[in-house]
Amino acid sequence: MPADALAELDLDAARAAVGAAGTLDELEDLRKRLVGKQSVAARVKQSIKDLPADRKPVVGKAVSEYTAAVTTLLDERHADLVPVEATGTALDLTLGGHGRMRGHLHLVTQCRRELEDVFVSLGYRVEEGPEVEDDWHNFEALNFPPGHPARAMQDTLYVNLGEPEQVLLRTHTSPVQVRVMETQKPPIYSVMPGRTYRNETLDARHSPVFHQIEGLAVDRGITFGDLAGTLEAFTSAYFGKQLQSRLIPSFFPFTEPSAEFSITCVFCDGAGCRVCSKTGWIELGGCGMVDPNVFRKVGIDPEEYSGFAFGFGLERMPMLRYGVEPIKTFFDNDIRFLTQY
Ligand code: DAH
Repeated sequence: MPADALAELDLDAARAAVGAAGTLDELEDLRKRLVGKQSVAARVKQSIKDLPADRKPVVGKAVSEYTAAVTTLLDERHADLVPVEATGTALDLTLGGHGRMRGHLHLVTQCRRELEDVFVSLGYRVEEGPEVEDDWHNFEALNFPPGHPARAMQDTLYVNLGEPEQVLLRTHTSPVQVRVMETQKPPIYSVMPGRTYRNETLDARHSPVFHQIEGLAVDRGITFGDLAGTLEAFTSAYFGKQLQSRLIPSFFPFTEPSAEFSITCVFCDGAGCRVCSKTGWIELGGCGMVDPNVFRKVGIDPEEYSGFAFGFGLERMPMLRYGVEPIKTFFDNDIRFLTQY
């Protein structure tokens, strides 16, 4: 027997042929062809006695497994075809059956895609950048000079590569702004979602791994009013129109002026509760007008162009929309949580 005779015992082909048999006669012909006296299976079986001793059990086992499997398939098809031939139609008496669990997108991915859609409809592009960043993009180009106190607030996780403290896990999505401005000329309208990392202890609202969505608009004559209108547009698209928002002064090295964007607490409608620390407001992210120093670092003329930027926590949004807490719920991968959304 040729060494590859076993390859002729093709169970998939047999299954397809059995499934395609439409009458009992066809099925009986097939039975002869697949497992009858003249079949390939029979020939392989015949040849066993002439095989070297070590091949005999292997081929013997393969051929009897094949024959058993094909016989079962033929018998099952036979049982299906008998009522069809008896009544002329098939009567499907199957009960409910076994439901199959279908997968779906994670809540954070759903939120990211929803926001991307809002921004794409406003004419923005979606951009991405690396999660392992260098000091230049994560800090230096964003106007955080070495030793600046704002660096300490970022709880950076460094990667042990190259010069000490030069390679890191990005602490925010703002370095993608730098990458976009380094490679594109204004006008720029981009959103940059992605995963970010901080050396932070897990608590109800903080996690060492989380997501942000960054926004950047650079053009002639961009004003703070454009920023406020854009934030209003996208948060009301996500949370609904009844929402109220506010901007209060803040500080970030790469924007001037800078602001914090908050919405009225969705849990208490602004009355004050545990979730909003009795303030009635929940902060969604930071924003501001791009600092001229940042423009200079990437070779954009601040006399000609102005721009706004913002960075929002992505988990925050579905946390508020659906009342999900604590933040680690997003990363636990508990199927009972995931299937609710
Ligand atoms: N990157 C800041 C952070 O993670 C958030 C931020 C603030 C982003 C102001 C911005 C901005 O683009 O303009 O804390």
